[in-house]
Amino acid sequence: MSRLIVISNRVSAPTEKQPAAQGGLAVALTAALREAKGVWFGWSGETGETGELKFETYDGVTSATIDLPEQDVDEYYNGYANRTLWPLFHYRLGLTEFERDFQGGYERVNRVFGAVIGPHIEPDDLIWVHDYHMIPLGWVLRQQGLTNRLGFFLHIPWPPTRLLTALPEHRRLVEALFAYDVVGFQTQEWLNTFHDYVTNEMGGTLGDDGAITVGGRTIRAIACPIGIDAQEFIASASSDQAKETHHRMIESSIGRSLIVGVDRLDYSKGLEERFNGYQRYLETRPDAQSNVYMLQIAPPSRDAVQSYRDIRTTLDALSGRINGAFAHIDWVPLRYVNQGFPRDVLAGVYRSARIGLVTPLRDGMNLVAKEYVAAQDPEDPGVLILSRFAGASEQLESALMVNPYSPDDIADAIATALAMSREERIARWRPMLENIVEQDVIWWRKRFTTALMQE
Ligand code: G6P
Repeated sequence: MSRLIVISNRVSAPTEKQPAAQGGLAVALTAALREAKGVWFGWSGETGETGELKFETYDGVTSATIDLPEQDVDEYYNGYANRTLWPLFHYRLGLTEFERDFQGGYERVNRVFGAVIGPHIEPDDLIWVHDYHMIPLGWVLRQQGLTNRLGFFLHIPWPPTRLLTALPEHRRLVEALFAYDVVGFQTQEWLNTFHDYVTNEMGGTLGDDGAITVGGRTIRAIACPIGIDAQEFIASASSDQAKETHHRMIESSIGRSLIVGVDRLDYSKGLEERFNGYQRYLETRPDAQSNVYMLQIAPPSRDAVQSYRDIRTTLDALSGRINGAFAHIDWVPLRYVNQGFPRDVLAGVYRSARIGLVTPLRDGMNLVAKEYVAAQDPEDPGVLILSRFAGASEQLESALMVNPYSPDDIADAIATALAMSREERIARWRPMLENIVEQDVIWWRKRFTTALMQE
């Protein structure tokens, strides 16, 4: 069996310092690497002179990371990745910054990654590169003469052609993808927009089985939705810590139903619009104040980037205004918490919540939606309210679908969810759970690596 090499900007494999993998991507890849003997390469998250790779093996997973100089972090990570590609790929042209220095830093860091990782690759290794930080890496590795099977998976949306062409070097970026053998997207929709670019901008042709040919080079592009480690998450929801959390949530709810949101503090998650929708619900339903409360967990993210500081300021003010306007002496309508929690605690919170409110303006997939469903009590499940613009909406079709831009839509969905009979809740929940269990993270990994191994 060949080794699996995973390369991504952030390496969140378990380490001695941080034994539990954090976040959807981390959980997904750690589970994948535990099955296949592998190495996970990437940035250490630290600034410093780029030196040797630091290897660490913990709990069956080997990681290898390098530090990056401050200028590289600024131009590559804070710059091109998070001020150019992230907003553009999430349909936010107005937040997208176009700086040559960013692009230069991005390509430079990808060359550095290629140079340090290349010597550790063995001829049989399957190489799987992840996400928008690393698009040119496959090309860099090919320049070194590497002939291994090379795959790339994009965790975020693929933007419509009209948006992508606003990027001055769009063609160069997409051409770099043709160094890979297989390119994976989260949904059919993102695959379709990729096809659109390749056929209209590059004169490419589509063949059978995902084949795409441009100028004599054929690659495969597939839709391959990422899942969660469903069985482990279901088990998490019955753990002691989850039960204790569930108990605390019920104790503190004074008989009200909980609406929960859990998101990185990112403008793509639609938090401002979500708060507005909740406020609309409180304003327009006279009984609202005696029957609900909302918990929004939002750990801060990418705070070196101005647009992230702005959304944080906006939400601080908005949550304060909502509480100021509606709170009673014994009831706070919105608990807004800027920190992350361990998975068992989150599972307990999800299970306590009558409504999971997942309303990104645009999201590659959204694993919180899947975790919320997995954590529910089969006898008395809550209702998932889901943005139609989350990739997860292609699989979780029986969620209550909303337009996240519309406060009325969100308010109506909250009212519908609270009034929903147990029968309907079960009927909606069951097919979603089946999908989550069947198309879990192991399914995702196998689907991608099987495609990658096919010559
Ligand atoms: C998204 C991206 C990941 C990224 C994660 C956290 O899920 O697709 O690649 O790692 O956000 O963002 P951060 O910038 O903290 O790594």
